[in-house]
Amino acid sequence: MRMRKMKNLDPRMEACSEYWIREPQTYKGHWRDLMPQCRELRVEVGCGKGKFTVETAAAEPDILLIAVEIVKDAMVIGMERAKEMGLKNVFFISMDVAKIEDFFARSELDLLYINFCDPWPRSKNAKRRLTYHTFLDKYRRVLKMGGQIHFKTDNAKLFEFSLEEFALCDLEMRNVTRDLHKDGPVGIMTGYEEKFYGLGTPINRCECIVRSKPADDMDVIVFCGQSNMQGQSETLSESEPVQNAYEYKWLTNKLVPVKNPVGESIRYDGSEGYMLTSNDQIPDWLEDHVLGAASYGHTNLVPSFCRAYIEQSETDVLAVHAAKGSTVIAHWLPGTDGYRAIVEKTQAAIRKARREHTVCKIYVVWLQGESDAISGNSKEYYKEKLAELASALKNDLAVDRFAIIRVGRFTGDARDQAIIDAQDEICEEHEDLLMLTKIATELNSKPEFMNPDVHGHYSAKGLEVLGRAAGGALGKARKNG
Ligand SMILES: C[S@@+](CC[C@H](N)C(=O)[O-])C[C@H]1O[C@@H](n2cnc3c(N)ncnc32)[C@H](O)[C@@H]1O
Repeated sequence: MRMRKMKNLDPRMEACSEYWIREPQTYKGHWRDLMPQCRELRVEVGCGKGKFTVETAAAEPDILLIAVEIVKDAMVIGMERAKEMGLKNVFFISMDVAKIEDFFARSELDLLYINFCDPWPRSKNAKRRLTYHTFLDKYRRVLKMGGQIHFKTDNAKLFEFSLEEFALCDLEMRNVTRDLHKDGPVGIMTGYEEKFYGLGTPINRCECIVRSKPADDMDVIVFCGQSNMQGQSETLSESEPVQNAYEYKWLTNKLVPVKNPVGESIRYDGSEGYMLTSNDQIPDWLEDHVLGAASYGHTNLVPSFCRAYIEQSETDVLAVHAAKGSTVIAHWLPGTDGYRAIVEKTQAAIRKARREHTVCKIYVVWLQGESDAISGNSKEYYKEKLAELASALKNDLAVDRFAIIRVGRFTGDARDQAIIDAQDEICEEHEDLLMLTKIATELNSKPEFMNPDVHGHYSAKGLEVLGRAAGGALGKARKNG
């Protein structure tokens, strides 16, 4: 819409500030807080001067309507209309709808209107049309399953193009008409519609229903190591699920939201969880499968890691937990049951994830070395074995980066210094290995971060701090390529 620049735009915008959402990102996932009793949350993209917006809001006072318009000079007229009418269920955002996923959460919307969007007639500009499939995929993400898109246009060519795009995006079409007002005016007309109707131009209309969601990108992060990675804190603290993070449970072949406790639901004493073998074989089975056990209910660093990672990378996470207390690095090398467990569990997780997501990056996060320190393994030995493990996983799982959370103090003497030095040096020498954080040793001297009952282990608070630092670092590295 080409409009002459308004001279007094700013004071006019200010005068309707109660209808103007200046920072829509802050409402992402919380739009219904503006009207908790609303029946539906709807969005109109490219509302222009807001005739349809305010009349729809007035006709249905129990819905919450958010109007998006890139040109403030047009939008302000809509806001003034809303103010004049004293509406309580409509708000305006001055934004490019291409960024709709920045200000609406997934599945947050019930309905989205596209009224008389610019046709961009030249085919080289097709991707600018608001019904181009890349836009439709964004709408499909923010709309709930079964949510709707209502589309109207006077432009016959744009309409036919859009129907093809809807089909391409698995949108179910219904009530398709190429002459909406053939038997007299139907529904609320927009400003443009009124004009074209007056000129006798047929109006095209179609409703679409979201029947499937586009695949979201997902990164797979494999959490390996010994007891601090398994999660041996004293208590279960935060247990809220992490948004957009999933954990793969091998025993049930399911993706579940990431929350504490993390790991497979088995106990080492065999008293809980589904067992793949008879009871008398449990010790062997555990030895074979080396899995962390969630049933003890301990806090793990995985949730805080994932939360910080997602904040930085803005990518969903699938966490694969394969850690077991008291293991030395030799338990995890190629040819061992530990290695087999990492590879088989991760492969199964990737297969499962690929059904609904596009798997992008694969990372291994390693927190281990305490038992090697106790055993007095040398720096050279540990470096050699860690390089062997990282290289094998790179080949077998196509791991993009082997990332290390540097181990904390356990023996408090030269033995754990050897492991710490090995981890520092190997990250400097190999570009595939990434040091995520060294704060585990700093936390050792702060009692609130240490488990008071089990020497060398972190408290719930300590694991959360460690997870946050490491997850933020990997997320940043991901973002920076
Ligand atoms: C042809 S007008 C139609 C206005 C109104 N829907 C109507 O039917 O009267 C298209 C409107 O979409 C707005 N618009 C175009 N591209 C947009 C985008 N990417 N994000 C938000 N608004 C956009 C334009 O500024 C313009 O006001």
